[in-house]
Amino acid sequence: MNRFLDLADFSREQVLDLLALAQSLQDHPQPHALVGKILGLVFFNPSLRTLASFQVGMSRLGGDSFVITPGQGTWQLETRLNAVMNGAAAEHVREGIPVLASYCDALGVRAFADGKNLQNDLNETLFGMIDRLCDKPLINMESAMNHPCQALADWRTMDELRIPKRAKFVLSWVYHPKMLPLAVPSATLHMAAMRGMEVVVARPEGFALPPEIMAKARLAAAASGGSVSETSDRVSALAGANVLYAKEWGSPQHYGDAEADGRLRADLVDWCVNERWFAGALPDAKLMHCLPVRRNVAVADEVLDGPRAVVKREAFNRLAVQMAVLHRMLS
Ligand code: CP
Repeated sequence: MNRFLDLADFSREQVLDLLALAQSLQDHPQPHALVGKILGLVFFNPSLRTLASFQVGMSRLGGDSFVITPGQGTWQLETRLNAVMNGAAAEHVREGIPVLASYCDALGVRAFADGKNLQNDLNETLFGMIDRLCDKPLINMESAMNHPCQALADWRTMDELRIPKRAKFVLSWVYHPKMLPLAVPSATLHMAAMRGMEVVVARPEGFALPPEIMAKARLAAAASGGSVSETSDRVSALAGANVLYAKEWGSPQHYGDAEADGRLRADLVDWCVNERWFAGALPDAKLMHCLPVRRNVAVADEVLDGPRAVVKREAFNRLAVQMAVLHRMLS
């Protein structure tokens, strides 16, 4: 494996194979598998789970890693093509990424959406450039429209919980004071569709995911025997649900316009998950979220602290699935 950028690049069988390897590495640790291998980690944006789990995963496999946070102790990196670099950035990714890649055996990069131009972000313009600049195996640690490591960990979490392939999976928009990127909702929607689930996207008017993202998920559902629908009626969405995956995202129709997005979301503070949301769901329905989560803004304490919440298990599972990716790439 030379690239881990999008679950859509893999067949269902290849994903199941990676999940089996994750389980195997958990049951039978291989502390010498990656001795002598170096993983470079570049974080253009903050992280807690991704940063820690990749470093720990590499160490547990016997390898080593280094972390670059551009602009924090290292040169700020310019990402715009044809930029006149008379601002804060002293170096361009066109030099920075190949140089870093030359020091290591694989590179992981986190580069969130620019958040200004929806089409550019849907096209993964920045990550596409990074991909072309990197001549070593490359891992997407969250790009404009994807977070495959999170998606793989969430798939594993549902397998562990024995949530059936055909179960009802509700991806619901939840409130956040700011417009957040579309990477996790896009990756989550696609993952659940690829797993073969009955997927419903619940979102207020104005927050429908872009047609390109819905179409990609519907294609995956068609191949796996699942389904994808959307509604603004979260009560009907949650009827009979096995899983509620809560996620915050910005309004695609006001992409890059924080003021217009803010006006749209101002009346939506009740889109904060509490126990009442589960009234029509299955009794043991689970609450998933990729974290970080704002308590009592996106999800109420009573849910996060109750038996439905599996958010910490999702985070824990990042370690196992990323170790599987690293093992497949580097061993
Ligand atoms: N879910 C996730 O990617 O967490 P971090 O942003 O903390 O890495």
